[in-house]
Amino acid sequence: MLHLDHSCLFFRSCLAATLGVLVGWTPATCSDVPGSRPNMLLLMADDLGIGDVGCYGNSTIRTPNIDRLAEEGVMLTQHISAASVCTPSRAAFLTGRYPVRSGMVSSNGYRVLQWAGVSGGLPTNETTFAKILQDKGYATGLIGKWHLGLNCESSSDHCHHPLQHGFGRFYGMPFSMMGDCAGWELSEKRAALERRLSLCFHAVALAALTLAAGKLTRLAPVPWTPLLCSAVLAILLFTAARFLGTLIVHADCFLMRDHSVTEQPMRFQRTTSLLLEEVASFLKRNKQRPFLLLVSFLHVHTPLITTEHFLGKSLHGLYGDNVEEMDWMVGQILDTLDKEGLTNDTLVYFTSDNGGSLESQHGNRQYGGWNGIYRGGKGMGGWEGGIRVPGIFRWPGALPAGRVIHEPTSLMDVFPTMVRLGGGQVPQDRVIDGRDLLPLLVGTAQHSDHEILLHYCETFLHAARWHQQDGGRVWKLHYMTPEFQPAGAGACYGRGVCPCFGENVTHHHPPLLFDLSRDPSESHVLTPATEPLFYAVVGRIQQAVETHQRGLRPVPLQLDGLHNIWKPWLQPCCGRFPLCWCHRELDQ
Ligand SMILES: *[C@@H]1O[C@H](CO)[C@@H](O)[C@H](O)[C@H]1NC(C)=O
Ligand SMILES: *[C@@H]1O[C@H](CO)[C@@H](O)[C@H](O)[C@H]1NC(C)=O
Ligand SMILES: *[C@@H]1O[C@H](CO)[C@@H](O)[C@H](O)[C@H]1NC(C)=O
Ligand SMILES: *[C@@H]1O[C@H](CO)[C@@H](O)[C@H](O)[C@H]1NC(C)=O
Repeated sequence: MLHLDHSCLFFRSCLAATLGVLVGWTPATCSDVPGSRPNMLLLMADDLGIGDVGCYGNSTIRTPNIDRLAEEGVMLTQHISAASVCTPSRAAFLTGRYPVRSGMVSSNGYRVLQWAGVSGGLPTNETTFAKILQDKGYATGLIGKWHLGLNCESSSDHCHHPLQHGFGRFYGMPFSMMGDCAGWELSEKRAALERRLSLCFHAVALAALTLAAGKLTRLAPVPWTPLLCSAVLAILLFTAARFLGTLIVHADCFLMRDHSVTEQPMRFQRTTSLLLEEVASFLKRNKQRPFLLLVSFLHVHTPLITTEHFLGKSLHGLYGDNVEEMDWMVGQILDTLDKEGLTNDTLVYFTSDNGGSLESQHGNRQYGGWNGIYRGGKGMGGWEGGIRVPGIFRWPGALPAGRVIHEPTSLMDVFPTMVRLGGGQVPQDRVIDGRDLLPLLVGTAQHSDHEILLHYCETFLHAARWHQQDGGRVWKLHYMTPEFQPAGAGACYGRGVCPCFGENVTHHHPPLLFDLSRDPSESHVLTPATEPLFYAVVGRIQQAVETHQRGLRPVPLQLDGLHNIWKPWLQPCCGRFPLCWCHRELDQ
């Protein structure tokens, strides 16, 4: 029965295995947790900073429900995402592999999938933990944001769709929330497109006028076809530029249920309640089975869609309101677990895909997250603020309550941890970078298995950390850092996001060294003169980096070039293209 004391089971199985080894019997190993197979409820916030949460030290924001998870479970203080932006970070989370291995990275500055209608996405030959658990009999579902691609060749092949990757149910946004969805600000994407469209319009309009002039004055024998074509094209380009904002909203901001578009564009005021209803009905439907549910919040990404009830309620403007609303959603979901009697059989995990976005500011207004004492934020591959995120595990009875762990851990660790708990096997035909967290969480291990963690920015290795297990120090080396704009500021204001390469990135020779265990804010650079271990540490990390890089295989980059441009024939559309408009759930 699942109500048995799980930690007890865990210890018993380890003990049995140890005894077995001693008497030369080869039984099940510690990796079998008999009778466990808990339900798994994984909660992932979008762009939430580690400093935005009460239990991580924020005294002025109200996150009682997330705090409660920490009180009743295990809180990780050095939980690191594999990338500082969402698409690669989420790909690594689901596959347990650095995104350079699956190709879910860019090398040209287009850091995330740019449209719902692109052909890039999580490759079909990658294996998510959802897939393994589904094969092991789990009921699996994803509710909320995906942002890992949809189609390859037609608007309905769904080659990258969540259903293709082990989720038995999907309800939510295949793309991502963004400022454009609410016509919030002139996004970089929209601004760049507007410039291009306007350039094309002027060129075509000039051609049309020249042809028309030639025709009218009879100076040149101009046939009708090119004249009419160029005139029509000019009108189309003008209209597209004029209505670009609306086009983007229809192209990207829509909801799907499994393979069908249900709401295009989304009506934001009801999205929060729709998602919560979906979570409740999933939990009720599957309470007799082991289930895996990933709730991937649209909060707290811009445009910070917040229902009236939470507007103006926090001390931190619209951003704080949105964080508090998300915390309330967490509470609603935990209440449903309680009501259905699932709490003790369910492992709950809470995290964020990357750090808070410092650049999301307008004037003095804060619209992005706060990363506490950590330097930098979203989009910066190496600085702690972009990658150190909340990480909480709760499983009453099985995991200790109120435990805090400062060891380096990774979001990629969720992969082997969940696979093992669900009774599955991690794939043997590829490198898995995540490590099983269970021994650390239950307290049978003192150290995490990560000696080295690498911090990529696109395909560029910006930094690496070394957990020196004798002595317990955590060193961090930066090979490259973005230059903040304006110089001296803590972020790239006015640029949207800091670059990973190019003239506004500084290469460090020798690399910048910090001792994170004494200087978590990365404010005191160590030099050979101040740190006797300098060359030893740099050498040790360099050696690990070289070993890692020798093990990398070239794969197609899913976020580069033609993979990451909008293709009209891939555009999901619930009306007749290009009139993509419907609200199907209302009719049901
Ligand atoms: C709490 O979070 C808000 C919202 O991000 C932030 O503005 C504030 O500085 C944080 N306060 C503390 C004490 O960390
Ligand atoms: C759930 O687990 C807790 C902690 O082990 C225990 O105190 C409580 O009685 C359990 N609740 C149920 C309904 O089994
Ligand atoms: C580097 O930053 C400067 C100053 O903001 C800017 O003018 C320039 O365009 C940037 N270079 C690149 C390649 O983005
Ligand atoms: C998936 O396929 C690509 C080729 O499209 C290949 O390069 C890659 O190694 C494959 N990945 C795995 C995990 O088999």
